[in-house]
Amino acid sequence: MKVNGKDYRAVWWEEGVVGFIDQRLLPHRFESASADTVARVADAISGMAVRGAPTIGVMGAYGMALAAFNGDSLSSAYDELLATRPTAINLKVGLDAVMSAAPDAGSMLSAAGAHDDAEVAAARAIGRHGGGLLAHGSRVLTHCNAGWMAAQDWGTATSPIYTAAREGMSPFVWVSETRPRLQGARITAWEMVNEGIDHRLIADGAGAELMRQRRVDIVIAGADRIAANGDTANKIGTYSHALAARANGIPFYIAAPLTTFDAGTPDGDSIPIEERSEDEVLFVEGLNDGGEFQRVRIPPRESRGINPAFDVTPAALITGFITEAGIIPATPGGIADAKERPKHS
Ligand code: MRU
Repeated sequence: MKVNGKDYRAVWWEEGVVGFIDQRLLPHRFESASADTVARVADAISGMAVRGAPTIGVMGAYGMALAAFNGDSLSSAYDELLATRPTAINLKVGLDAVMSAAPDAGSMLSAAGAHDDAEVAAARAIGRHGGGLLAHGSRVLTHCNAGWMAAQDWGTATSPIYTAAREGMSPFVWVSETRPRLQGARITAWEMVNEGIDHRLIADGAGAELMRQRRVDIVIAGADRIAANGDTANKIGTYSHALAARANGIPFYIAAPLTTFDAGTPDGDSIPIEERSEDEVLFVEGLNDGGEFQRVRIPPRESRGINPAFDVTPAALITGFITEAGIIPATPGGIADAKERPKHS
C-alpha cells in the first residue's frame, strides 16, 4: 500500500525491533511505532494498535524472532503472544511458522519474513480471484476492516475491490461502520479515500435496508477463523449481514487466505469468541474540535455493556470463500480440496 507516496506494510522488521502502524490513531494520524520486547509486541496486539487476522499473525511471527534476538525463552514468548487474542487462528499460524524454523535468531527472522511475504502474496491472489466476481460499477458491502491494515497489504475483502478499481471497473463500496470499535469507519473508510474509491459510510443496521432496496450487489467480508465445516468467525455484525444477504438473495462471500482455515476446529461452536472490555461499547473515542483525541460516555452511568468481538456465520449462509487458491464452496469437501491446490495461482 502507498500512503503519501511511500510503500508500507502494516508491520515490519527494522534493525532489531518490530515496526508497526499504530492503527488506533487512524484516520486522524498516520504514525508508526516500534516494539523492542515481546511484552511490547503483545501489548500492541491486545491493545489493538495492530489488528486484523493476517497482520497479527505476521506481528506474532516477528515477535518470536525478536524473542530469539533478545535471548528470551521461546516457549514463554510463544505462550505470551498466543494469549493476546484468542479468535484469529492466523496468530497461531504465524507463531508456528517461526517455531518450526531452526532455533537461531537469523533462521527465525527469515521464517517470519517468509510468512509475511506469503500472506501478502495470498492477499494479492485473493484480489485476482475475487475481482472476477465484480461487474463494472458493482456495489459491494464490506464489514470491519479486512483491508491493507488487517492483512499487511491489499487486504482480503478489499483486495477484489482494489483489483477491480485498478482495472477500471469503478467499484462502489458500502462501508459498514462496525460498532463498537468502528474499524470500518476509521480504517476501511480511510483506505477507500487513499485508493480513490467511491464509498459511503453506513450504520451497521443500514446494511439490511440497503439490501432490501436492491442497492447492494455483493457482500464481501473477511474472517478470523474458518472451521472445518465452513462456519466462519469474523467481526461482530458479520452474521447479521449474512442473514440479510440470504433473505434478499444477495451473494455473501468470505475472503480469506488459507492460513485462516483451521482444520483442527470442527465447527463454529468450537471457535473461541473473544470478549473485550465493556468500555468499548459504553464509550466512543474520536477527535474533538481542538484536534485532540477524546473519549465520551454514551449510555447512563448505571448501564453495563457486554462486548463479544466476533460472531459466527454458519457455512450455509456463505456463497463461497475467496482464497489464494481460487473460489471454493463453503463445504468441508471444498475446503479440503482448496488446501490441495497450488497457492497464489
Ligand atoms: O478485532 P479486529 O479488528 O482484529 O477484527 C478484524 C476482523 O474481524 C477482520 O475482518 C478479520 O481479521 C479479517 S482481516 C483480513
